[in-house]
Amino acid sequence: MTDLLRPHRLRLGVNIDHVATIRNARGGEHPDPVRAAQIVEASGGDGITAHLREDRRHIRDDDLARIQAATDLPLNLEMAATEEMLAIALRHRPHAACIVPEKREERTTEGGLDAAGLHNQLAPIVARLGDAGIRVSLFIAPDPRQVEAAMQLGAPVVEFHTGEYAHADGAQRAAELKRISDMAALAARNGIEPHAGHGLTYENVQPIAAIPQLAELNIGHYLVGEAVFVGLEESVRRMRSLMDHAR
Ligand code: PXP
Repeated sequence: MTDLLRPHRLRLGVNIDHVATIRNARGGEHPDPVRAAQIVEASGGDGITAHLREDRRHIRDDDLARIQAATDLPLNLEMAATEEMLAIALRHRPHAACIVPEKREERTTEGGLDAAGLHNQLAPIVARLGDAGIRVSLFIAPDPRQVEAAMQLGAPVVEFHTGEYAHADGAQRAAELKRISDMAALAARNGIEPHAGHGLTYENVQPIAAIPQLAELNIGHYLVGEAVFVGLEESVRRMRSLMDHAR
């Protein structure tokens, strides 16, 4: 295969929220998500992803600047579409901002953003982030209506929510995989860079990583959980290697 035909390298963004979750369980500074970001950088990760939630249950405001100062990796800030988060994003100017739905009571981001239904709320936020040079991504379900809505909003990137895929098995998992694959192709055909994430593990990552249009996976909870047993460097390296072998 010539280089032109070879699918591009799939980037790994490591979500370090749950390092902060452990820190916050006791207050204080340990374990520091900044140290996690530095280890990710040294272990083959391509980016740091962090979700500043309204309730600050994991990453806190001051973590953002500390992460940006401590590593050269691009920061992907996950944020709700609110004025508060927009102001924070414009102040910190991360490389990318991924707009996610956020409900106070949820344990994690439970579904995709309704980009179609929320067009009027999202349009000014997408525009202001884009004007500031921040690469906007919309975290959506692998659904043609949502891809169409992302096109209308002029979002350069979409991230497909892989939670349904991750929680399914057998024929249902195969159907979810096909949905993600079809939507990645649709997005790419329309000039949108497709990413994916949520619930990915060593066991389920390779069929997703094999989708040629995907440019980036964002993975957090599983990598931090594995790090308890093997260390963060090893968990990131193993995921990186599984992704590389899937292409
Ligand atoms: N991508 C987005 C937009 C997310 O909100 C999250 C966390 O919910 C992830 C990726 C990573 O998911 P996980 O922690 O399950 O790997």
